[in-house]
Amino acid sequence: MRVLTGLQPSGALHIGNYFGSIRQMKELQDSSDLFIFIANYHALTSLKDSKALKENTLDAAINFLSLGIDPDKSTFWLQSDVKEVLELYWILSSFTPMGLLERAHSYKDKVAKGLTPNHALFSYPVLMAADILLYDSQIVPVGKDQIQHVEITRDIAIKFNNEFGDILTMPQFKVDEEVATVPGIDGAKMSKSYGNTIDIFCTNKALKKATGKIVTNSTPIEEPKDYATCNVFALAKLFLDESEQEELKQRYQNGTEGYGHFKMYLKELIWDYFGPARDKREYYLNHKDEVRDILHTGAKKARKLAVEKMEIIKEKVGILS
Ligand code: ADP
Ligand code: TRP
Repeated sequence: MRVLTGLQPSGALHIGNYFGSIRQMKELQDSSDLFIFIANYHALTSLKDSKALKENTLDAAINFLSLGIDPDKSTFWLQSDVKEVLELYWILSSFTPMGLLERAHSYKDKVAKGLTPNHALFSYPVLMAADILLYDSQIVPVGKDQIQHVEITRDIAIKFNNEFGDILTMPQFKVDEEVATVPGIDGAKMSKSYGNTIDIFCTNKALKKATGKIVTNSTPIEEPKDYATCNVFALAKLFLDESEQEELKQRYQNGTEGYGHFKMYLKELIWDYFGPARDKREYYLNHKDEVRDILHTGAKKARKLAVEKMEIIKEKVGILS
C-alpha cells in the first residue's frame, strides 16, 4: 500500500504535532510503503525570505528524522529535489477547471486573513495533486484542513483519466478520527497560530515556563482535584500508560499536592520522553551534510518512480520526450 504525505516546513514543532501526526507517520512506516517529503515549494507560497526558507527546510528534515522518521523504512525527500513534480503540475493545470480552485476553502481563508493572493497560492492544490498522483499514491494521511485538497486531486485525476484511460491512481484521504485534539496551555487546541504551544525542542527552562503557564482552576492544595477537567492531566496522559494514569488520578484525588506539583511532573515527563529525539537532533545539527545526503538518497528513490510515470503521462498527452 503506497501511503504518501507532505510536511510543511513551518518552524518549531509542538507536542500537538507529535501526537496528532508524527506518531502516526512512525507507525505507518512500519506497516506500509510510506512516501514522505518536505513541501518546500508549497512553503514558498507564503514565505518570501530565502534564508528562512532554507533554514526551515533543513530544520524540518532534522526534526522529523530526530523524531523517528526512518529513511531505511520510508522514502523521505525534499519536494524540490524531484523536478518532475513541476512538470506534472503544469500538465495537470490543463485539466483543472478554475471553478474547482475558486471553491478551495484554504485559499479563501488565506485571502480573508489578508494574505495577498498570488497565482501559486491559488494553484497550490494542483501542485499537491501532482505530489500525490506522480507516485501512484493510494492513501494520503492529512489533517482535516487538507481533506478538500485531496478531493480536488481526485477531481483532477478523474478529468485526466476520462480523457486518457486509467492512467492516474485514485487516492483516498485518511483522517485519524481517533486522535484526540491536544490542548494548549490555555486549554484551546494547541496551535502555532494561537501562541499556546509547548514546543518539543525547547530548552529545559522554556519548558518549565510553558508548563508553568498551563491554565488550571484554583482548587487549594488540601482539596481533591478534578483530573477530568484539568489541562495538566490531559497533557500528562499522553505520556503515561494505563497504570501510570491511575496513579496520577489518585494523586489528584488525595488532596496533598497542588497544581504546581503536577506541572513539574508533566515537565519532567515531556523532557524525558523527548530526550532521545533531542540527542539525535543535536547530532544532526552538527552533521548537516549527512541530512542532505539522506534527502538526496530519498529523492533518488522517489525520482525513479517519477520519471517512469512522467514518460507514460507525457506520451499520453502528446509532449515529445
Ligand atoms: P498548527 O495548528 O500549529 O499550525 P499544523 O496545522 O502545522 O499545526 O499541524 C500539522 C499536523 O499536526 C496536522 O496533521 C495536525 O492535524 C496536527 N496537529 C496540530 N495541532 C494539533 C493538536 N493540537 N492536536 C492534535 N493534532 C494536531
Ligand atoms: N498542503 C499540505 C499541508 O499544508 C502539505 C502537502 C503538500 C501535502 N503536498 C502534499 C500533504 C501532498 C499530503 C499530500 O499540510
